[in-house]
Amino acid sequence: MSDGSLDGRTVLVAGATSASGLAVSRALVAAGATVVAVGTRAAGLEALRTAVPGVTTHACDLSSRADVDALVARIHRDTGPVDGLVHLVGGWRGGGSIAGQTDADWDFFDRGFRTLRNTTRALVDDLVASPAGRLASVSSTAVDAPTAGAANYAAAKAAADAWVRAVAQGFRKDAPDTAAAAVFVVRSLDGLEDRLGDEVVRLWDVDAATVNGTRLPLDPSLG
Ligand SMILES: NC(=O)c1ccc[n+]([C@@H]2O[C@H](COP(=O)([O-])OP(=O)(O)OC[C@H]3O[C@@H](n4cnc5c(N)ncnc54)[C@H](OP(=O)(O)O)[C@@H]3O)[C@@H](O)[C@H]2O)c1
Repeated sequence: MSDGSLDGRTVLVAGATSASGLAVSRALVAAGATVVAVGTRAAGLEALRTAVPGVTTHACDLSSRADVDALVARIHRDTGPVDGLVHLVGGWRGGGSIAGQTDADWDFFDRGFRTLRNTTRALVDDLVASPAGRLASVSSTAVDAPTAGAANYAAAKAAADAWVRAVAQGFRKDAPDTAAAAVFVVRSLDGLEDRLGDEVVRLWDVDAATVNGTRLPLDPSLG
């Protein structure tokens, strides 16, 4: 549980309609945050609003920079500046071998990566200005142990990791005492959704400098 440091904070959950998005949104609301949850499917967002009362939802294709800018302008107008970004847009495509890594699958991962680039570029000034700015993403053990059958996936997750750690380097320079970017690492999120929610909330309970730029195993067996 949070010590109350999320009271009055606004957190955008990007890719909020999955099981992990629901758990993270629920944990943040319970900890006192104002949660702005984003996905593309109206039905998924409606189900989220029902499951987690108090959440504000927006349908937005986060792979479009123009749509992200319009969304952020609307959040600024309706809610104010953003203190946290939890990026959960993911998905998986296999392929079976290096030759089986299709361009269509790479385009899928590139679209997901663009949602990370767009949201961080649009919100970095807010996160730096916040008294407690936080960015969290979820990576995979595939980054350190890539396979031929999932090369597209591992390469895209590695790119996302590098991007988040680049944001962390900027925070170290521009807001060393207040802003932090961290990457959670899992093999599978299945069954770890609530733990992810708790650990996201905990990011606001620890010193920014302690957690900034870290990769944090979420599964205890990954120690
Ligand atoms: N699941 C696992 O076992 C696992 C393992 C390792 C790492 N991870 C990582 O953990 C994170 C969460 O994974 P997950 O499996 O819970 O999520 P997921 O099933 O991949 O869910 C994707 C979420 O992103 C949204 N989304 C997709 N494209 C979007 C777009 N263009 N704009 C806005 N929203 C978009 C989806 O909402 P709509 O359907 O409404 O568009 C959905 O809420 C991801 O980064 C994933 O790579 C997951």
